[in-house]
Amino acid sequence: MIIVLFITYLILQKPGEPLRMIARFAATFGYLAIFLSILSSEYMAKMRKISGMPFLRAHHNLARIGVLLILIHPLSLALQAQDFTIFLPVLYPVETFLALGGRTALYLFLLAAGIALYRKKYRNWKKVHYLNYLAFLLVSAHALMIGSDFKQDIMRIIAIIMAVTVTGIFIHKRIGVGKKIYK
Ligand code: HEM
Repeated sequence: MIIVLFITYLILQKPGEPLRMIARFAATFGYLAIFLSILSSEYMAKMRKISGMPFLRAHHNLARIGVLLILIHPLSLALQAQDFTIFLPVLYPVETFLALGGRTALYLFLLAAGIALYRKKYRNWKKVHYLNYLAFLLVSAHALMIGSDFKQDIMRIIAIIMAVTVTGIFIHKRIGVGKKIYK
């Protein structure tokens, strides 16, 4: 709660047009919700033996909030600019790909979340679900490179800590998978 109030305070330090403000709020809180969703999945795995259920519920709720916010973010930007081409990913050159990484990440998140809805049908859904990690790193680059709120040192530090944590969780999970295979 303190973090939410603190980030709200930081964003309000630079007021702008309403749609731009909605985009900035949705971006940062969507980013945060997805981070917490990934974090909860780590605890879900750890607590599975006792009861992973509260973490699973938190994981799903945070993911729902995150997906909603990351849809609101570009939608309000597109409405403000009256330009829906902002939904088109740019893959080259690398610097632009990373700066506009949110565009690519949006589809990766939607794919990764969507496949989880059909997990009973697709046995290998987890492999696709791991795209969340790649998308998260892309968004971190995107926020750090073009985000006006992420020009502040404290926000840059938060983004870097989250990106490193998410990379750590990914490595930890992959090691876990490896162990299961070779047992
Ligand atoms: C079509 C997709 C996307 C477009 C066109 C887009 C565009 C932008 C733009 C123009 C900014 C700079 C806003 C500003 O500072 O005034 C921005 C910032 C940001 N975006 Fe995106 N983005 C997209 C997808 C995403 C996704 C999927 C996320 C996931 C969380 C995301 C997270 C962020 C964050 C955290 C910031 C920094 C907020 C700030 O400092 O203002 N973006 N995005």
